[in-house]
Amino acid sequence: MVKKILFVCLGNICRSPAAEGIFKHKIKERDLENFFLVDSAGTGSWHVGNLPDRRMRATALSRGIELTSRSRQIDVNDLHEFDQILVMDKDNLEAVKSLIEDDMNSVNSKIKLILSYSKNSQLEEVPDPYYGGQNGFEKVLNLLNDAIDELIDSLIE
Ligand code: 4NP
Repeated sequence: MVKKILFVCLGNICRSPAAEGIFKHKIKERDLENFFLVDSAGTGSWHVGNLPDRRMRATALSRGIELTSRSRQIDVNDLHEFDQILVMDKDNLEAVKSLIEDDMNSVNSKIKLILSYSKNSQLEEVPDPYYGGQNGFEKVLNLLNDAIDELIDSLIE
């Protein structure tokens, strides 16, 4: 059965497209592409239709990962559609959970902070790099790279 994975951040132009790109890169490397459907979305709508931020694209490309997704906003259908919804920070967590309606009891357990999968980082949240410098983009990729290895391992068990 194909597992459907959705990464979520605020704008869907920095962190969650990077997570999507890293996940796709890793499942290709591990010959697991047929087992997953991967997407990303934002809790906000400001950047809908846009490519990822050019700084995020350049930083990912320097690691061999091309980011080509277009920003879209998450909606309640995504909560039904996806098996796992991995968010970057606690604001995202709250925003996604606010979409849950009364008859959707099983959805809560699908939604997790991505860094809950990280064994090497003490951080709980992937910091928003949008208003910072280059280091912030490198840090996002390092954190995601580590957590997504663990995430994939947990999904193929
Ligand atoms: P993201 O970063 O949530 O990682 O895509 C942001 C992108 C844009 C904005 C904030 C965060 N913004 O305020 O426009």
